[in-house]
Amino acid sequence: MRVTRGRTNEPTELPDDPELPALGVIRERGLAGSIPSLGLGGAHVKLRLCGYTPGARATFGARASRRRFAVKVYAKDPEPEAKLYEALAAAGLASDSGARVPRLLAWERDLRVLVIGWLDGTPANLLVKQGRGARAGELAAIWLRHALSLPVISGPPVGAADVLRRVPQWVGRIGKSDRALGAAAAAVAERLAQTLPREGASGLVHGSLYARHVLELGDGPGVIDWQRFGRGPIELDAGVFLATIWRIGLEHGRAAGEAARAEETFLAETTGILDGRALAWHRAAALLRVAEKRLRRDDNRLSPGRALVCEAARLAESSGDHRAKFPSSR
Ligand SMILES: Nc1ncnc2c1ncn2[C@@H]1O[C@H](COP(=O)(O)OP(=O)(O)OP(=O)(O)O)[C@@H](O)[C@H]1O
Ligand SMILES: [Mg+2]
Repeated sequence: MRVTRGRTNEPTELPDDPELPALGVIRERGLAGSIPSLGLGGAHVKLRLCGYTPGARATFGARASRRRFAVKVYAKDPEPEAKLYEALAAAGLASDSGARVPRLLAWERDLRVLVIGWLDGTPANLLVKQGRGARAGELAAIWLRHALSLPVISGPPVGAADVLRRVPQWVGRIGKSDRALGAAAAAVAERLAQTLPREGASGLVHGSLYARHVLELGDGPGVIDWQRFGRGPIELDAGVFLATIWRIGLEHGRAAGEAARAEETFLAETTGILDGRALAWHRAAALLRVAEKRLRRDDNRLSPGRALVCEAARLAESSGDHRAKFPSSR
C-alpha cells in the first residue's frame, strides 16, 4: 500500500492494485478530477480505506467539506449494483427515514467505480458487542419484512442451489487448514445436498447480510454493500445474518448472551415469514462459509473453526427434520 497525495491535494491511502483501474486514476487526478459529476470542485477530500479485497474491490469512506460518502472501486463492472441502487431508490428506499439503503451519487462506468451516500450508524455486530443484541436482531427482522414488501426488482437468481455450488470450494479450503475438519465439513456438504430446500417465493436478496452490513440509523435499519444481491428466498439472508451473529457470540465470550438475544429477537420478529427448514439449511451453509473465511484469515484459529462446522452439522441435520425447532446450541 502507498500513502500518496493526489494532484488536488487529497491525502489518500490507495492500495497499488492494477486490477482496480480507478485507483491509478484517483491517484493521478484526485477524486474530484476522476469523477467530475460529483461536483467537488477544489474541495479538500479525505479518503479512508474501509475495506479491501486485493484484485477484486476496495471501499473508501470520503469526506469533502460537509459531504460524506462511500467510494467503491471494482475489478469487475459494477453496473448491476449501480442499477440496483437506482431501482431501490425508485422504490423509496434512498429516503431519510425508516429502512433504507445508500443513494447512488455517481457511477463512472469506465473506471468501474460507484459513489454512494454514507449511512451514519452503528453496525449490528457492534450493537451486539455493546450489549444491544435485541436491537441488532430487531433491525435485521425489520429489514427482511421490508424487503418482502418491495415490488419486483430484477437480479440474478440466488438460492440454495446456487449456494450449494459454492460449498465444495469452502469445504476444500477448510480441509486445507485441517484434514479432519475438512472431512466434517464435507459431511455437512453431503447432508446439504440431500436436503436442498424447495424454494418457491423469490424476492430481493442481499446475498451477504452479515451483521456488519446492517446499520442502526435510529429510526430503522440501513443496509449496505449490495454487491452480491439477487432474487431468491429471504431465508438466505436470514441464514447469513444468524451465522454471523453466532460467530460473534462464539468469539467474543462476553457478547455470547447478547448474540443469543439478537437471535431470539430476530426469530421472534420474523415469525410467520420464514420457512424453518429452509432457514436451518441456509444457516448451516452460511456457517461453513464463515468457518472458511475465519480459517483463511488465520489458520491457527482451529478451535472456532471446529465450533462453526459443528454448529453447521447440527443445523444441516435439522434442516431435513420437519419437527425440528432451531434455536442455536450454545
Ligand atoms: N454507504 C455506507 N455507509 C456507511 N458505511 C459504509 C458505507 N459503505 C461502506 N461503509 C463502511 O465500509 C465498510 C466496508 O464497506 P463494504 O462492505 O461496502 O465493502 P467491502 O469491500 O465489501 O468490505 P468487506 O469485505 O469488509 O465487507 C463497511 O463495513 C462500513 O463500515
Ligand atoms: Mg462488505
